Order: sequence, then structure tokens, then C-alpha cells
Amino acid sequence: MTVRIAPSVLSTNLATLRPQVEAAVAGGADWMHVDVMDGRFVPNLTFGAPVIRALREVTDRPLDVHLMVEAPERFIAEYAALGARVFTIHPEATVHLQRQLAAIRDAGMLAGVALNPSTPVQWLEEVVADVDLVLVMSVNPGFGGQGYVPASTDKIRRVRALLDRLGSSAVLEVDGGITPATIRAAWQAGADTFVAGTAVFGTPDPAAAVRALKAACTTEV
Ligand code: DX5
Ligand code: ZN
Repeated sequence: MTVRIAPSVLSTNLATLRPQVEAAVAGGADWMHVDVMDGRFVPNLTFGAPVIRALREVTDRPLDVHLMVEAPERFIAEYAALGARVFTIHPEATVHLQRQLAAIRDAGMLAGVALNPSTPVQWLEEVVADVDLVLVMSVNPGFGGQGYVPASTDKIRRVRALLDRLGSSAVLEVDGGITPATIRAAWQAGADTFVAGTAVFGTPDPAAAVRALKAACTTEV
């Protein structure tokens, strides 16, 4: 089964973005995860278009943009024009979720829905036909370096079951606290794509870190 790694640039030092991203890609990083935060939907403020533009110059890997902002629809056209591949939004951040998912697809991007630890899986059922990616948050969003919420594994299992039952081929991505010690359980529960910030860019060797995450899934223990 697929193991796709999406290192989060939130854990890079932006002063040396290029060599860090290149190292992760050399280790087999599949996507680059971009955490856009507005200081309102989550209690932290990060970056937006300028960093997406810089990343587009640095790598040809798909950019997996995760919007932790209120009214994320304000950025659909701009980020699509900058070359974002995935545009993931939180249901609590927008009033007309289905409308925004359709707009993301219309703009030529993959439409993602992110579920916080306390967001019911059932929210997904209403919009599954409009979703290309489900992002199960395994921490409460806002910061890198937090611990994996153990209940996330069962939630991944329930999302996998829902997608299979409804015939959806959406990507099932997990975000938060992913390390070589936690990734395997999430993978076995049915996730195929893994965001990792600290576990990749918080190490001196991002290439080895990406390889270690993939190996933790596929190597028998
Ligand atoms: C958290 C962000 C994550 C974060 C993950 O709000 O959505 O993408 O960068 O960082 P780690 O892997 O360190 O938990
Ligand atoms: Zn994220």
C-alpha cells in the first residue's frame, strides 16, 4: 500500500529553505506540506502566498496547502495561480463547505477536508463526492512538535471504512505528531499520506528522516 510523505515546511528554518527542501526530496519526499495559519482559526500565525511562491521555485514536488484560516475561500484563486496542488480546508472555518470544495476543484486543485481531533467523521459523509483528500488531524492544529493524539488511529480506521463504503478513492492523510514510532499504526489503520514536520526538518538529515518514516511502515517488526 502507498506511503506518501509530505514534510511540513513549518518546521524548516526559512533562511535556508532550499537546501532543506532539496534534502527531503532527495530522501523521497513526495509532497511539500504548507501550513497557512491566520492567528484566529488557530492560535498561531505563519505564512501564505510569498512562501508558496518561493517553494514553487525551489521544488517541483506537489504543494499540499493546509489552510488553518477563517474563510479560506479567499485564497483559492490566488493559491491556484501560484501552483498549489492540494487545497485543504476545515469545515468549521467556512459556512458553505460544499460550495468551497467545488470551487477548489473548479480552480484546478485537489479539494481537501481536514478533521480536527474533536470534529466528527460524519461531517465527511455529506460532502464525500466533492472531496479528493481527507486530512485527519492527529494533533489540535496550530503548532508543530506536538504529540500524536492516540484516538487518531481509530478515527483513521473509521474514515477509511467510510471512504471504502461510499466508493471514494480520496487520499487519506494524517497530520501531527508523525514519527517513526507513530506512523506505522496510522498506516495500518488505512492512511496513505503522512505529514511530518519535526520528524523531518527537526533532524540534521532530512533525507534519512524521510527514508526512516517510509521504512517504519513497510519493514516488518
Ligand atoms: C499543525 C500543522 C502540522 C504541523 C505538523 O497544526 O497542521 O502540519 O506542521 O508538525 P509535526 O509533524 O511536528 O507534528
Ligand atoms: Zn498541516
